Amino acid sequence: MKKQHKFRLFVQLVLLVTLFSAGVSNVKAQNTRTAIINGSDYTDTTGKTINAHGGGFLKVGKYYYWIGENRHDNVLVSCYRSTDLINWEFRGDLLTRDSNPELANANIERPKVVYNEKTKQFVMWMHYEIQTDYSYARAAVATSDNIEKPFKYLKSFRPFGNMSRDCTLFKDEDGTAYFLSAARENYDMMVYKLTDDYLDAKEHLLTLWPGGHREAPALMKRGKYYFMITSGCTGWAPNQAKYAYSKSIKGPWSELTDIGNATTFDSQSTFILPIEGKEGTSYLYVGDRWDGRQYFNSKYIFLPLNFQNEISMTLDFKEKVTPDLNLGKIY
Ligand code: GAL
Repeated sequence: MKKQHKFRLFVQLVLLVTLFSAGVSNVKAQNTRTAIINGSDYTDTTGKTINAHGGGFLKVGKYYYWIGENRHDNVLVSCYRSTDLINWEFRGDLLTRDSNPELANANIERPKVVYNEKTKQFVMWMHYEIQTDYSYARAAVATSDNIEKPFKYLKSFRPFGNMSRDCTLFKDEDGTAYFLSAARENYDMMVYKLTDDYLDAKEHLLTLWPGGHREAPALMKRGKYYFMITSGCTGWAPNQAKYAYSKSIKGPWSELTDIGNATTFDSQSTFILPIEGKEGTSYLYVGDRWDGRQYFNSKYIFLPLNFQNEISMTLDFKEKVTPDLNLGKIY
């Protein structure tokens, strides 16, 4: 072998080794994030962008699950899991266009899942529209006995005949579950109590802020009070979030109070995740930073909610957020 040729081979080998180890350390870095970086491209443990928009969270055993909208190819709802709320592992697609003929040309938004102890089923409620038509305004329901496995799509409908768009699901400490959704062209926010199996709306409990145009509801309970965050109605464009509190889901609910800044830090609420640890419980606001022109470019915002007293809370922006699941704190 000529000397020059040998040298070239040697240089190629060095280059290959360098590229390979850079790749390995890159994967390693993705596997070991130490904080959530708000507004960044949030990737899963394999380096792929997380697709879980308008999502909800649920703790099952030692895992937190993040379930949300994925509009790639024929996927509608995807599932990720984490043990630290920072590094997320993709676990599978829960609903696709093939799950049911009704889903073939559907748009599924804001899926939320709770577990029913009596039926041993995970129950998903979501907002159902047809891809080319935003006037279906229905709720839809699906179930599974395994949170990581495909759900069985059951039906879409309008609870008590009411339009049903932006929505959330909330399971109370006593096992009663509630579905909240924007009705009457998003003028009213409805609160429904679910049947014991969580598959139907049993009672229309109340109509909140009639004519108030609130959407993107997220509900939590802290001490004696329930808190609800909602956004205004400006499509994909962010606006001022507001919150209300009440001693009972049935109300009376307080007036709406501004929270965060005028654009809620360029986000729209989707969920409030309680983090229970040795030193108490903290509450993580989760919002979508939508990109209306390029949906897939939409990002996520995670921020700690700060409480001044039993009925007052605030939201400040932080670029880096680190939940401490052991202590129940958010840094
Ligand atoms: C938002 C809503 C989103 C999506 C969007 C469509 O107001 O919160 O979930 O429906 O409108 O324009």
